Amino acid sequence: MSASVLTAVAWPYANGPRHIGHVSGFGVPSDVFSRYQRMAGNRVLMVSGTDEHGTPISVQAEKEGLTTRQLADKYNRVIAEDLQGLGLAYDLFTRTTTGNHYQVVQQIFLALHRNGYIAPKTTTGAISPSTGRTLPDRYIEGTCPICGYDGARGDQCDNCGNQLDPADLINPVSRINGEKPQFVETEHLFLDLPAFTESLGKWLSTRTGWRPNVLKFAQNLVEDMRPRAISRDLDWGVPIPLDGWRDQPMKRFYVWFDAVIGYFSASVEWARRIGQPDAWQQWWTDPAAKGYYFMGKDNITFHAQIWPTLLMGHNGQGDRGGEVGPYGELNLPDEIVSSEFLTMSGSKFSTSRGTVIYVRDFLRDFGPDTLRYFISVAGPENQDTDFTWDEFVRRTNFELANEWGNLVNRSISMAAKNNGAVPAPTVPQAADEELKALSRNAFDTVGGHLQRSRFKAAAQEAMRVVSAANKYLSDQEPWKLKEDPDRRDAVLNTALQVVSDANTLLTPFLPHSAQKVHELLGGTGVWSAQPEIREVTDLDDASIEYPVLMGDYAAEQASWRSTEIEVGRPLQKPTPLFAKLDPKLGETGPEWAPIES
Ligand code: MF3
Ligand code: ZN
Repeated sequence: MSASVLTAVAWPYANGPRHIGHVSGFGVPSDVFSRYQRMAGNRVLMVSGTDEHGTPISVQAEKEGLTTRQLADKYNRVIAEDLQGLGLAYDLFTRTTTGNHYQVVQQIFLALHRNGYIAPKTTTGAISPSTGRTLPDRYIEGTCPICGYDGARGDQCDNCGNQLDPADLINPVSRINGEKPQFVETEHLFLDLPAFTESLGKWLSTRTGWRPNVLKFAQNLVEDMRPRAISRDLDWGVPIPLDGWRDQPMKRFYVWFDAVIGYFSASVEWARRIGQPDAWQQWWTDPAAKGYYFMGKDNITFHAQIWPTLLMGHNGQGDRGGEVGPYGELNLPDEIVSSEFLTMSGSKFSTSRGTVIYVRDFLRDFGPDTLRYFISVAGPENQDTDFTWDEFVRRTNFELANEWGNLVNRSISMAAKNNGAVPAPTVPQAADEELKALSRNAFDTVGGHLQRSRFKAAAQEAMRVVSAANKYLSDQEPWKLKEDPDRRDAVLNTALQVVSDANTLLTPFLPHSAQKVHELLGGTGVWSAQPEIREVTDLDDASIEYPVLMGDYAAEQASWRSTEIEVGRPLQKPTPLFAKLDPKLGETGPEWAPIES
């Protein structure tokens, strides 16, 4: 039976181009997962967009001498291009500065407010004593009160992952000029997290299938639920729809408050864009639908604690109860799939320290599938993982080019040369049946791993079929069977069948080369669909245009099963699937990201 699967992918900040660390956390895993789900016949809705509010954007805008709006426009497009180049098949990749997002955020807020989960409170905010201006949280640095790390920022500690308030920092200083910030009184709206202690704790205790470290982290958060500010003294963000707040130019929702709601607002936008404004309900109000959230580990708090409480508050399901909000009872996440960090020489990818490999450069030189494969098979799935050019070269040359590319190439060239078409399996032998059974059975094994977001294991199992097929060809030596064309046909038919199966198994990881192999095997039409950049008009303000990623994924032929290859289908001599990389690249790195000695 086909299921509704929501793939909710973390929203990248529109503050710079994406590097390979970013896309290894949220990007490639979520796409491999979604492609598998679509192939398995499920109804997938994969949504995200650029996260465009708050200090991450205003800080960068100031650096680049742009307005926040200009900066958001600039990087919204750059990021959409990066993700499209990688072949990330979003049903909708939008942004948080749309009229639709503003409305939905305000509606969810009002529901929380009506249910009594929001309260104003006077707190201390930081200002710069020399300029008198508000100092955004991220502009303040100090020692983390939780783990003692001394590079913690006012919004969060990158070392322990905890969310912080600037006033919590020990020895806070301004990152702009090193001065000690002055703390003044300011009024903010708070989410009453203590009023979710029981409901959130209960919900977490019924979660199954989560990676244990994520569940444990979330359960720890429930131990100490304190009210959390959801507004900021900032002029860049979603306005607060309450009397006394609405017209204040320096009061906006906190960026994380509006961003997580993006999963839902983007689903609503998608439904409106396809002309079926209620279509989002299949993924959000049908209790049988499943929601999977993909992100890097620094995002766990917001997905395992804040987002579920916002949904519960809207639904009237916090400890104080309440009314169901305007959208009906919305589904909470089923799984939080978080990745660890991809590092380079042991340090977290950092644009400021210069250790950075941009997606755009990578795609230009090596294409999307080599990176997708590397991240899937050698990425930071369970632990922080160092990216090295050496390993990238080895994986590309030995696994993609020598193993997979070579299997495709020799099977198809031999059949093209000898038969000009897919030959008939005239005299099948046990070895043929054995290999075909192995590849048929791999659909369950690989599919099982993908269903649980075990990408490494899934890719390895798929590659085992490839190795077995290469071994089969070496054993059967069809090139020596000139005198026995019937047997040779049976061997080549078997090899081509397994190439076709392996191609299907590898499609979620390698969608671009899978399309090519489909064509090399004589197939026509779209095998694996790719996202497109579409220029659209804001649904609520015809004067605003922006690019989105969408795609016609329903038209793709890829389906998660072994399909019998058609005897007699014409075959041409193939061109190589993967170019081999110069081993020197492993020692030096490319010019644009050289290895420092
Ligand atoms: N922009 C955030 C980051 O890069 C992620 C936001 S995810 C969402 O860390 F939940 F807010 F959507
Ligand atoms: Zn810390």
